[in-house]
Amino acid sequence: MTLSEAVRVPLPTPDGTFEIRAFERAGGHVYVAMVLGDIEGMDDVLVRLHSECLTGDALGSLRCDCGVQLRQALRTIAAHGSGVLLYATGHEGRGIGLVNKLRAYVAQDAGHDTVDANLRLGLPIDSRDYGEAAAVLSELGIRSIRLLTNNPGKADGLRQAGTAINAIVPLVTAPHHRNIGYLTTKAHRLDHIRPNGAALAFDGEAKPAVDATTLLGEVRPRNDRPFVVVKLAQTVDGRIATSNGDSKWITGLPERRLTHALRAACDAVMVGIGTVICDDPRLTVRHVPGASPNRVILDCSLRVPSSAKVLQPEAATTLMTTERSDPGRRDDLRRRGIKVEVVPELDGHLSLPVAMARLRASGTETLLIEGGSRTITSVLASGLADRLIVSIAPTVIGAGTEAVDQLGISRVSDGIHLVNRAILPLGDDVVLAWDVASDRDHGVIS
Ligand SMILES: NC(=O)c1ccc[n+]([C@@H]2O[C@H](COP(=O)([O-])OP(=O)(O)OC[C@H]3O[C@@H](n4cnc5c(N)ncnc54)[C@H](OP(=O)(O)O)[C@@H]3O)[C@@H](O)[C@H]2O)c1
Repeated sequence: MTLSEAVRVPLPTPDGTFEIRAFERAGGHVYVAMVLGDIEGMDDVLVRLHSECLTGDALGSLRCDCGVQLRQALRTIAAHGSGVLLYATGHEGRGIGLVNKLRAYVAQDAGHDTVDANLRLGLPIDSRDYGEAAAVLSELGIRSIRLLTNNPGKADGLRQAGTAINAIVPLVTAPHHRNIGYLTTKAHRLDHIRPNGAALAFDGEAKPAVDATTLLGEVRPRNDRPFVVVKLAQTVDGRIATSNGDSKWITGLPERRLTHALRAACDAVMVGIGTVICDDPRLTVRHVPGASPNRVILDCSLRVPSSAKVLQPEAATTLMTTERSDPGRRDDLRRRGIKVEVVPELDGHLSLPVAMARLRASGTETLLIEGGSRTITSVLASGLADRLIVSIAPTVIGAGTEAVDQLGISRVSDGIHLVNRAILPLGDDVVLAWDVASDRDHGVIS
């Protein structure tokens, strides 16, 4: 195998300082080994062989799980204290190259899965060769490895090329509604093992990734707004906070991990400024491996404190405000990388239909609304919710913040009706999910 080490140099990353070692193939692609700790002459070295994916790794694409897997692999190796992330350039799109991969995306958008899209373009389903990667591992002096992958085909390829693999370590991610179809195809047609992590029926035990996409129901974004999922956590007596605003934590850790998996499954998460001021949430994905959604805050006069965690740059943030807010403050926030949208008012509040239309126009397909009470009430009162997820904790706190305030409904039969119930026991909590009935479901339109 004509592979030679071209250079090695320390490479500091947020996960630690690796030694980066580049192996060049004569006239071909480069293999980059990110090496941590002592690996030469070692057995059971933790190794991730990562196929280049420019769109996922560098640009944050949600079509695939590559970027999240790459960061998770580096973190896992750093936590372990030693190992190698071997990055294979030339493996882009399972070997078909970047431009062909983008062409295959066009075919996928026309309804074909990742396998059929390649076949329709006359391209192989997977043309990756693992011989060179095995040669690099051998050059590094590794005796045997534990391979971080969900893909048994990758392990077979390395084994056939002479790498001794003593164990396969899964590298699962919490899926996004945009990549769940791709992950399902990888599981069903390419024999990957559960790339989307634990199914929802988990028992509260810590699992690396949770698939919350099934709880979203059938995602059907409309032309004028995203698919809107209202999610709240309440006590058994219907409170989302005590009377002095405390809501940490109503539900247990398994339910909070589920909330993070729901965030990882959606394009955007929305709260009102009341929740930001009261709770100072980060609204990011931390309890599961997944991408953090765009954080959307309803804030008519930009009361958001400059130190609010949602303004920190760990994820994108959009502030929806009105003409009432100070234009100078808007500019300051924009300079901090915060998107500020000025939206017309409706009944003394920011117009939710316009805010949602703006989100949809900028590409948001799924919006998770996490509260608080006023925001949930406005969304329900405006008929903008498609799905309701309520987590009920076995706690009674008496008077406090009610989940939903006045909706002007005087007869039970006029209530907002929910259909297609799903129930999920989660630790000591119970999660319930329904579709919000349309007028047609409700029988108003015969
Ligand atoms: N248990 C849970 O699941 C959960 C989740 C989140 C929050 N909470 C709790 O909920 C409480 C906060 O609830 P909240 O009702 O005070 O706050 P909120 O719904 O988070 O924020 C309400 C504020 O958002 C602004 N807003 C702008 N446009 C709006 C619109 N169209 N509809 C509604 N609000 C709009 C208004 O302030 P401006 O007029 O100044 O813009 C409004 O006062 C806290 O105690 C928090 O702990 C619980």
